[in-house]
Amino acid sequence: MARVVLGVAGGIAAYKACSLLRLLTENGHDVTVVPTAAALRFVGAPTWEALSGHPVSTQVWDDVAEVPHVRLGQAADLVVVAPATADLLARAAAGLADDLLSSTLLTARCPVVMAPAMHTEMWGHAATRANVATLAARGVTIVPPASGRLTGADSGPGRLPEPEDLYAVCERLLAGDRREAEDRREAGPLAGRSVVVTAGGTREPLDPVRFLGNRSSGKQGFALAAVAAARGADVLLISANTSLPAPPGVTVVPGDTALEMRDGVLSAGKAADVVVMAAAVADFRPREYATEKIKKTYGDGADGGRGAEAAPTIELVRNPDILAELVAARGDDASPVVVGFAAETGDAHGTVLEHGRAKLERKGCDLLVVNEVGAGKAFGQDTNTVTILRQGSSHTVEAGPASKEAIAAAVWDAVQDIL
Ligand code: C5P
Repeated sequence: MARVVLGVAGGIAAYKACSLLRLLTENGHDVTVVPTAAALRFVGAPTWEALSGHPVSTQVWDDVAEVPHVRLGQAADLVVVAPATADLLARAAAGLADDLLSSTLLTARCPVVMAPAMHTEMWGHAATRANVATLAARGVTIVPPASGRLTGADSGPGRLPEPEDLYAVCERLLAGDRREAEDRREAGPLAGRSVVVTAGGTREPLDPVRFLGNRSSGKQGFALAAVAAARGADVLLISANTSLPAPPGVTVVPGDTALEMRDGVLSAGKAADVVVMAAAVADFRPREYATEKIKKTYGDGADGGRGAEAAPTIELVRNPDILAELVAARGDDASPVVVGFAAETGDAHGTVLEHGRAKLERKGCDLLVVNEVGAGKAFGQDTNTVTILRQGSSHTVEAGPASKEAIAAAVWDAVQDIL
């Protein structure tokens, strides 16, 4: 069973998409139909809902709490747009996100099929040709229109291919994707390994609206998870306050505060072969959590009388050091391999690397990935520069400046050396 999004744009051939929907559901797939507003002028929402068993929506303002414009694309194994009108092709090629279907196309990381259908003149226009070429270059599978009778008396290329033919293309892509993923998993250097990666920055709540946080974007952790999955590992990504799409084949669970992240890491880490702690975990959290918002007028009035100068003092307590706990909990087999990250700045007491070596010693992990932060370095950027230190060895590996994927590859190479 695959999760399929069936996009339907506003053309007369929308009625044929009902048969494609039928074929997909009858063959066991879970299909969510995402029509454009114009498509509903041809075939109404009740038809799509009855045939798919799911509610339909054309815009991003319904069911907002579920964030459907992101979730649908992220969760899909296949997106097929049939018919794809000239307008839909233009919006998709331009990367517009002005309705639920165009937004879903931007968030989908699975195979995408588009079956253009329109009048011959529109299909032959240079603008449509250029849009189709752009989409094809980005990896979209374009099923060209058939020739034959069009809406009126005229005929020519522009007809939507028969639903059976479109269904066959969908199945081929679904099967190919499954096979490719299986091949990759079986052959990869981390095949059969279970890994836990943490990403993002924890937020330590102060009151219902405020928190203490940090600048970590989660990009390096997500890149580490993506590379591990591509090398065949079973990957659990514990993510703190990120808004990045789940990499293919990676299970993402939240761990938004240091204590939540600790629970996730310690329970999943026991059975893992490798734990990579890329998250920026807050060292401290507020001692008290105020269940009501702390008011700006704090200290005014009866008890205080300190007027506009008044401000609360926030008392902090230490968070547990998850990495150190994980290392301490290991048995004689020294499993899992534990990788720490150290975001450092040099200071009067030592260079970035000297601080890194001392931290590796103190934390007892197997590898420490050290990067220099501050002044536009590392946080939120797409590139990174790191030095990888190994416990009990003076040998270091320098990586970057390079993409966070390339840095991730260097980290996994070092982990594979230990495994
Ligand atoms: O000591 P420092 O915070 O610089 O160490 C960073 C490393 O330790 C990172 O791998 C981070 O994920 C981990 N860490 C942790 N628990 C904390 C603080 C940091 O596991 N409370």
